Amino acid sequence: MPASDLPDVAGDQFRDALSRWASGVTVVTAAGSDGPTGITASSFASLSLEPPLILVCVGSDSGAHDDLCGADAFGVHLLARGQTDLSNTFASQGIDKFGEVEHEFHTTGVPLLPIGRARLVCARHDAVAAGDHTILMGRVVSVELSDDGDGEPLLFSARTYGRFQPE
Ligand SMILES: Cc1cc2nc3c(=O)[nH]c(=O)nc-3n(C[C@H](O)[C@H](O)[C@H](O)COP(=O)(O)O)c2cc1C
Repeated sequence: MPASDLPDVAGDQFRDALSRWASGVTVVTAAGSDGPTGITASSFASLSLEPPLILVCVGSDSGAHDDLCGADAFGVHLLARGQTDLSNTFASQGIDKFGEVEHEFHTTGVPLLPIGRARLVCARHDAVAAGDHTILMGRVVSVELSDDGDGEPLLFSARTYGRFQPE
C-alpha cells in the first residue's frame, strides 16, 4: 500500500513520540508591525552551510506568525542554561514580552536580547507553509557568541528544561 494512503498516526501518540526528542531552545524575534515581537522556538535547525541558512517552524496560530514570517530580517537567540525565564516569557501569550526584558536593536531593526550561547541575525530567505506551521528560512548575516565558550545550552525534552551532560 502506498504510504500516502495510510491515515495519520493518533495525535497523542505523535506528541508522546516527539516528547522523547531533545532539542535546544531559541527565541526568534523581529520588528513587528506594532513593535518588537518574538516567540520561543525549539524547532530551530541548520539548513545549509553555503549559503549559511537556518530554519525555524512558526505555528500559524502564534500571534507573532505574520510578523516573523513576513519580516525582512529576524533574530535567533540560542539560549543558555539559566535562561528558562526568558524562554517562558517568549512562550507566553497576551503579555508585553519586551516590557521587562533588556534589549537593543540591530541596524536592520531586529530586536536583540542578551546573548545566551549565541545570537544570529538573518535575512529572510524563504517561508513555506507546511501543515499548521510555516517553515521560516533565514540567511545568517551576523553571528555573536557568548564570551564563555564552555557555557551550556538550555535543552528541552519530555516537556521540561534540562542540561547537556557530555558522555
Ligand atoms: C520550549 C518551547 C519550544 C517551543 N517551540 C516552538 C516552535 O518551535 N514553534 C512555535 O511556533 N512555537 C513554539 N513554542 C510555542 C511558542 O513559544 C508560543 O506559542 C508563542 O510564544 C505564543 O506567543 P504569541 O501567540 O504571542 O506568538 C514553544 C514553546 C516552548 C516553551
